[in-house]
Amino acid sequence: MSLLIKNGTIVTSEQTFHGDIYIEDEKIKEIGSKLDIKDAEVINAEGKYVIPGGIDAHTHFNLHAGAYTASDDFYTGTKAAAYGGTTTIIDHMGFGPKGCSLKHQAGVYHGYADNMAVIDYSFHGVFQWVNDDILSEIEDMMKLGITSLKIYLTYDFRLKDDEVYRVFKKMKELGALPAVHSENHEIISYLRDYYIKSGLGSPIYHAKSRPPECEAEAISRMINIASLAESPLYIVHLSTKKGLKYIKMAKEEGQRVYSETCPQYLVLEENKYLNEGAKYIMSPPLRKKEDNEALWTGLKDGTISTVATDHCPFFYESEKKPAENDFTKCPNGAPGVEERIPIMFSEGVMKGRISLNKFVEVTSTNPAKLFGIYPKKGEIKAGSDGDLVIIDPSKEVTLSKKILHENVDYTPYEGLKLKGYPVITIARGKVIVKEGLFYGNKGYGKYLNRSKGILL
Ligand code: URP
Ligand code: ZN
Ligand code: ZN
Repeated sequence: MSLLIKNGTIVTSEQTFHGDIYIEDEKIKEIGSKLDIKDAEVINAEGKYVIPGGIDAHTHFNLHAGAYTASDDFYTGTKAAAYGGTTTIIDHMGFGPKGCSLKHQAGVYHGYADNMAVIDYSFHGVFQWVNDDILSEIEDMMKLGITSLKIYLTYDFRLKDDEVYRVFKKMKELGALPAVHSENHEIISYLRDYYIKSGLGSPIYHAKSRPPECEAEAISRMINIASLAESPLYIVHLSTKKGLKYIKMAKEEGQRVYSETCPQYLVLEENKYLNEGAKYIMSPPLRKKEDNEALWTGLKDGTISTVATDHCPFFYESEKKPAENDFTKCPNGAPGVEERIPIMFSEGVMKGRISLNKFVEVTSTNPAKLFGIYPKKGEIKAGSDGDLVIIDPSKEVTLSKKILHENVDYTPYEGLKLKGYPVITIARGKVIVKEGLFYGNKGYGKYLNRSKGILL
């Protein structure tokens, strides 16, 4: 199978230039101008941008959360991702049975994803308790290609600070990257009880019970514990200006602290909780305009390293809306895997908030580097996988559930007008989406056995 993409504006995290890309046997073979390859299928990308396929390093396909299961599985979720210009996902495993090993969930997740995904995929491990056996299993997980593992500071399987410290020390020793969901559990628990006991259960109280200080405090604590353990640190789904300040300060002092934000924290605000608010119940919650603006600045100046989605969809009508009077009963999470690249291109690049190269860096190249799949992924150069996305900057789209492919009954971005949209998605040299039609196959996606990440 060979494919020649001609006359596109090729954009990487470092360069923008006009040219052709030739892909053979799933890999980029040659980049040049006026390439003429006999028998290759030709795509004319004149007037369009050709970028490395998007990498969403934070999804929750099939997540089991109490009585609910996230509604996209590894087939529907990766198909929707492909429609939106994402060619690799790294899914965060959910919790397994109490007391289970780290490897237990790796097995469960291969069962969910193998022969299902239409694009390449990997997993982050998850800690749900800590002892010597669990710590020694980190190395086994790395041998399975899982070189990043997540710690939660809230929910039922949260870790305590001494456990976090032990995990950070061990991960540092092995060269693995800890990812942390940072929220102060005790204060949130108290506020949740307080609001419910006061009869204040509507969705806005989900946000009020998880104030910015709870995220910022947990981030600053993680930064200090990582410093003590001399470990790098990756903060998932950063949502606040206050949290960002701590990350910026630590980076300025030379600490290796990386962070990820998500489109919802860049373009949606807390006022969403006032109308069909259960749609937006996710943790951390939506914040204020000043937080959105600070996060855009953080992306632009390099304080924030990546943009992922935390895609975790639940049906609004049947699952979220019934909890409208008691936010504590609502499954947490929202869809977004398909909307990420279009939103970042339109709201970021087209609105002049970030450059084209920064857009590629945060949506593809940096996640590839940090999570050990670079330069196979996240790059356009000879030898890299033929994962490319063609964006038509003149295509205007109004985001709506009607045009999206996620297995859920709403999008948090309904009505958002976009300028520019992915029109072709190529995964390992195969066109899997073209002008709204899907040509991919269940099981085409391969498991990515990840190496240690490159610390930026
Ligand atoms: O509300 C969210 N984000 N649900 C998914 C699990 C998590 O905390 O990332
Ligand atoms: Zn989380
Ligand atoms: Zn998550």
